[in-house]
Amino acid sequence: MSEEQADVPQLTWVPKASAIAREAGAGLRTFFEQGVETEYKGDVDLVTVADRTSEKLIRERLSEAFPEHGVYGEEGTRDRLEGEYRWYVDPLDGTTNFAHGFPHFCVSLGLEKRTPGQAAGQDGTLVAAVIYDPLLDELFAAERGRGATLNGRPMRVSRTPELAESLVATGFPSRKRHESPNVHFYQEFTLRSHGVRRAGSAALDLAYVAAGRLEGFWEFNLNPWDTAAGILLVEEAGGQVTGFAGQHFKLDSREILASNRLIHAELVDLFKDLFAGRNLEPIPTPQEFAARRAERAAG
Ligand code: IPD
Ligand code: CA
Ligand code: CA
Repeated sequence: MSEEQADVPQLTWVPKASAIAREAGAGLRTFFEQGVETEYKGDVDLVTVADRTSEKLIRERLSEAFPEHGVYGEEGTRDRLEGEYRWYVDPLDGTTNFAHGFPHFCVSLGLEKRTPGQAAGQDGTLVAAVIYDPLLDELFAAERGRGATLNGRPMRVSRTPELAESLVATGFPSRKRHESPNVHFYQEFTLRSHGVRRAGSAALDLAYVAAGRLEGFWEFNLNPWDTAAGILLVEEAGGQVTGFAGQHFKLDSREILASNRLIHAELVDLFKDLFAGRNLEPIPTPQEFAARRAERAAG
């Protein structure tokens, strides 16, 4: 055991959840190498045998490891939701990547502690998180109050203080894409930062904010199975997670804004401006574009 690993306190849920995520991830890797048939869930939303097999395995393993805990999975699992603890499970986050052979996807397991009798729409507290990328063999984990780790080593958000020096990320829904205004935000953030990555796995985007590889992440219309684990990773790594107006984040919020904390106020201000239509960069007309190019060519 390395010195750094020896510093990590004994964790309650992460060891078993990590083993489950690793087993599910190994299964995904095998399917990925073999190639799988893709089906449509809706008009463009994809699902594969890998998503279903992974959820089935995770559901069984979680029930063995934590028989009292509830399980709420993207592919339909709704077990013991009246219990004190509930796992939000995305058995394969990044299905579109997976289906196209694009090597960027993960397993995401987030544990929420709920007060008995709590109303369905009310959040409990996120207490444990595991996100596993089987292709890079990277396991991101956290428990509340005990910090966050990447492959057993403590991880922290980045220290970059402003958006102009930041690399940020977002995503676009596969469902109802025409209803998403996000492409406008994508443009504005691209112009104001080192760049916007749109890599196709919201859980890994959040894990990367926690690991200091990205300064920020935002997305519209995610679900609790996409975000539960990543939120705790970001918070335990020293970052911040809110809605676009800086308001308290709820698991059923239809918007998420995560950052290294240092650029959070700047991001919230920018969202305020963009929603109000202020300070938008106009798209040049073809004539303006040609004139600028001619100006540059002239020196
Ligand atoms: C999707 C990914 C993607 C995000 C989509 C999600 P899935 O999850 O997280 O990055 O942009 O909104 O639905 O369907 O691959 O589990
Ligand atoms: Ca997902
Ligand atoms: Ca999924």
